[in-house]
Amino acid sequence: MVNPAGLPAPEAHPYAGHFPRWGTAPLQLLQEGAQFGTTFQLKLGLPTVVGFGPTWNRSLLTDLESFVSAGSFSRLVPYLSGGVIMTDAPGHRSRRAQLREPYGKNALLNLQERVRSALYDVRPSGEFDALSWADRATLSMLNAAYFSGEFDAELLHAFLAPLRLPFPSPMWPRPILFARVNAELRRLAGKRLEQGGDDLLSHLARLSGGLTEARVTLAAGHDTTTHTLAWTLWHLAQHGSWRTAEGLRPAIRETLRLYPSGWIGSRRVKRAAEIEGVALAPGNLVIYSPFLSGRSPEFWTAPEEFRPQRFEQAPLPWTYLPFGGGERVCLGMHLAHLLLEEALGLFLSGELSAVTGDPTPRPGVTLGPTGPLVLRFRP
Ligand code: HEM
Repeated sequence: MVNPAGLPAPEAHPYAGHFPRWGTAPLQLLQEGAQFGTTFQLKLGLPTVVGFGPTWNRSLLTDLESFVSAGSFSRLVPYLSGGVIMTDAPGHRSRRAQLREPYGKNALLNLQERVRSALYDVRPSGEFDALSWADRATLSMLNAAYFSGEFDAELLHAFLAPLRLPFPSPMWPRPILFARVNAELRRLAGKRLEQGGDDLLSHLARLSGGLTEARVTLAAGHDTTTHTLAWTLWHLAQHGSWRTAEGLRPAIRETLRLYPSGWIGSRRVKRAAEIEGVALAPGNLVIYSPFLSGRSPEFWTAPEEFRPQRFEQAPLPWTYLPFGGGERVCLGMHLAHLLLEEALGLFLSGELSAVTGDPTPRPGVTLGPTGPLVLRFRP
């Protein structure tokens, strides 16, 4: 058994450890670490272990007593620091149970028409940047699904835009902006409680802490969906045979393997544990990486290639984690698929081609394309 300090580590600064590289080029740092094997350490001021093999992923994601969100990276970002994301065992299970129904497949089907209509005003034509288009389309669809389109659109944009800025900007507190968003949430929730409704807010308004859930889940869902939408569209423009009703699912899945917007997930160790021969002590930081798991040649054939047909066979268990896994699996997974499929559905007929762009992944709170991604579409 080894301690975190006994694990191999990528090249580090003698005093600053991995902080400088984590700040400027974290994907390269992770990829360098992955050369050593499926677990390695990072020097980030406290004992930190990154792992990406199936055993690591399964252990970290299924043991909610030992590995907790309190003290993880999400804690550092006010947008994500609250609600179900910050609720740990034992309260987490009952919170998820309360949220299961509104975010379940069946309840979401009721929202499909509303989401589709929200796309009417953002239909692209001619040359457009897929990244800014995906941003607008996702905002509009989320507004429809959560609020039947009634949330002040400018405020929603102003609220969510800082999440896409480079670090440390997403970490700054924004009390005035958050207070305005909370007031708008209260206004609409009051209306739902009085008049009823069937959008997501109508369900959340009835839960204690439901408005925090609305705010936090909007933040968790916006960038992730925007980036996935932009990248998938970019790939569909280049791999036209997947631009069919049946091709969208595998194309989305393959995009999420190569470009999982949740590129890492972190937990703090609450009680001593052991995974893959690494002894983890309370307070250690542990990281799993859908990015490394999804691109490892150990688990995937030709991992760097866009090949949606690979999903004709099920991936090895616990190697494909774009939505995380276990009890903390993404709450918005079905919602994300609904939004992605509705938005991509606009492009099933007509001509779509890539003009120019930079799809290189750029890590921030979520992983996004460097952009722009200029496409041409003739409906
Ligand atoms: C393509 C889009 C999306 C991707 C790739 C994605 C990815 C993820 C990942 C990887 C996790 C696990 C994080 C961890 O283990 O630390 C997660 C959790 C979560 N996601 Fe998503 N997400 C997406 C869309 C959404 C949407 C639309 C919502 C809106 C409800 C959402 C809400 C959440 C919440 C609340 C959690 C925390 C769940 C918990 O801790 O119980 N996500 N997501």
